[in-house]
Amino acid sequence: MKKAPLILALLLCACAPKAADLHIVPAPQSITTSCGSLDVRGTGINCDKSMDARSVCAVQQFAEQLSLVCGTECKPSGKGISFVQDDTMTPEAYAISVRSSGAEVRASGFPGFFYAIQTLKQLLPVQIYGREPAPDAAWKLPCCEISDAPRFAYRGLMLDCCRHFFSVDEIKKVLDAMSVFKLNRLHWHLSEDQGWRIQIDKYPRLTEVGAWRDGTMVGGDWNTNDGIRYGGYYTKDQIRDVIGYAAERGITIVPEIDLPGHMQAALASYPELGCKGSQPQPYKVWTIWGVSRQVLNVGSEKTMRFLEDVLGEVADLFPGEYIHIGGDECPRDEWKSDPACQAKIRELGLKDADGVSAEARLQNYVTARMQSFLAAKGKKIIGWDEILEGELAEGATVMSWRGTKGGIKAAGMGYDVIMSPTTYCYLDYIQAPDLENEPFSITHQWATPETVGKSAITLEKLYGYEPLDEIPADAQHHILGVQCNLWTEYIAEPSYLEYMLFPRVLALSEVQWCAPDRKDFARFKADLANHALPVLDELGMNYRKLD
Ligand code: ACM
Repeated sequence: MKKAPLILALLLCACAPKAADLHIVPAPQSITTSCGSLDVRGTGINCDKSMDARSVCAVQQFAEQLSLVCGTECKPSGKGISFVQDDTMTPEAYAISVRSSGAEVRASGFPGFFYAIQTLKQLLPVQIYGREPAPDAAWKLPCCEISDAPRFAYRGLMLDCCRHFFSVDEIKKVLDAMSVFKLNRLHWHLSEDQGWRIQIDKYPRLTEVGAWRDGTMVGGDWNTNDGIRYGGYYTKDQIRDVIGYAAERGITIVPEIDLPGHMQAALASYPELGCKGSQPQPYKVWTIWGVSRQVLNVGSEKTMRFLEDVLGEVADLFPGEYIHIGGDECPRDEWKSDPACQAKIRELGLKDADGVSAEARLQNYVTARMQSFLAAKGKKIIGWDEILEGELAEGATVMSWRGTKGGIKAAGMGYDVIMSPTTYCYLDYIQAPDLENEPFSITHQWATPETVGKSAITLEKLYGYEPLDEIPADAQHHILGVQCNLWTEYIAEPSYLEYMLFPRVLALSEVQWCAPDRKDFARFKADLANHALPVLDELGMNYRKLD
C-alpha cells in the first residue's frame, strides 16, 4: 500500500516534460515542469483590475494574436490564463504557473507582464509569431512553474544607421526580434562623418546636405567611389513612431549624436562650425570609411550653441533618461593650430599634464558642458570610453568599447558602465573564422587566414563573455549591462544586417539576462535549433545557420 504514492509520483515524473524540453531564450532563472498541459484554444485571458494600461494592452495584443493563430477567439472571461498584479515583485520580474486547470501570471507591472508574455509565446508553437491561422498546431502550454528576472538592467543593441541607412520598417523588424529575447535598449547611432540621419528643425541643412554623400567607396578599397548619391534621414514624426513602437515592446531608444569628432557631415552642412585652416576644403560628406580628421571647432561659442541646440531638440524628442554623446576617436590635431581652440585652452587654463594634453582637456570641457546642459533637461549622458581620459564629471556613464579596461577603470572610479568590448561585442566582425565563405566584413580588411580565428566573434565566443570579469566586488553594481554594436560600413542591405545580428543577438540576450550558472552553450544551441531559429524564420529574419 505504501508503495502506491511513490509509484504515482514516479509515473507523474515520467510524464512531465523535462525543463530542457522547454526552449526559452534567454533561459529563465528557474523553471520546473510537471505532467499535463493547458489547452489555450479559445481560452479565457483575464487581467487584474489594478493592472496598468500598458500591461493590459500587451495582454490584449497577446489574446488577439492567440485568437488569430488558434482560429478560436480567446475572451477576457472564463477560466484560462489570469494576469495578476503582484506589487511585491521587482519591475522586470515575472512568475508563471501553468496547471492543466489554468495558468497564473504575476508581475508588478510593465515590463514584467510583457516579459511573461514573451515567455508564454516561447512555450507555444512558433506559429504564434505568424499572421496566418494555424488551427492544427498543438496550442497547449506545458504545465510548469517559472520564476524569472534579468541579471542586468541595461540590455542593449546599437545600430549604425549612418554608414548605411536602414528604413523605419527594418528598424521595427529588429525591435520585434529584440523584444522576443528581452533586450530593452536600442542605441541608435544617428550622426557620422558619412551621413547625418536625424531631422533638426533649427539646422535644416543637416538633412538637406548632411544626409547625402556623393558615392561610397567600394568594398575595402579607399581609392574607389561608386559615384552613386547615397543617403536618407529620419523625420521627427518617423522617430516618434519608432519610439512608440519600441516602448510598446519594453524598449527605450538611446539616441547618439557623436561629438566632437565624427562630424564631417555636419561640417559639410555648416562649414562655419569647423576649424580655421581645416583641410581639405570645401567640406564634403565623407565617402570613405575611417576616422575623419576634420572635427568641430569647439573653441567657438557658435559651435557650442549648435551642439546645445541639436541636443536640446534630441532631448525633447526622446523620452528616455540617456542621451549618448559619442566622444570616441576625436583627432585633436586641428585644435592645435586653431586660434579659437587655443584661446579657449588659455581662457580655461588647460595644460598638458599627467599624460593628458590640453586639447584632450578641451574635449573634457565640451563633454562636461553638454552633460550639464542635458542634466538641466533631466537627461544623463553616456559616452564611449574616451570620455574617461582626463577629467569626467560625476554622473556620466561610460560605454567600454576599447576592450574591457575602460569599463573596469570607470567602475572602480564610481562611474556607471555599459560593457561593449570590441573583443566580444562587435557584430561587424566576422562570425566564423572563414574569410573565404563569409560575406565581406571589416575583419576582411586586416585578418589573414592565420589570424582570422582570433578576431572572429563566433556565437560561442560572444556567449562566453562574462561582463563582471575583473570588476572588483564593490564596483560590480556600476556595471549596468552589456551591449553589442553593429557598425555598418560594409553592411548596405537589410538581409546582411540581419545576418550579422542573428543569431548572435540571442547569445547576447543570455549574456545580458542570465546568471552565469544558468548559462550552458550546449543547452543554448539546442534551444536555438529547436525553437529560437524557427522563431526567427517566422519573423522573416535572415540569420547565419548554426555550424
Ligand atoms: C567605436 O567603435 N568607435 C565606438
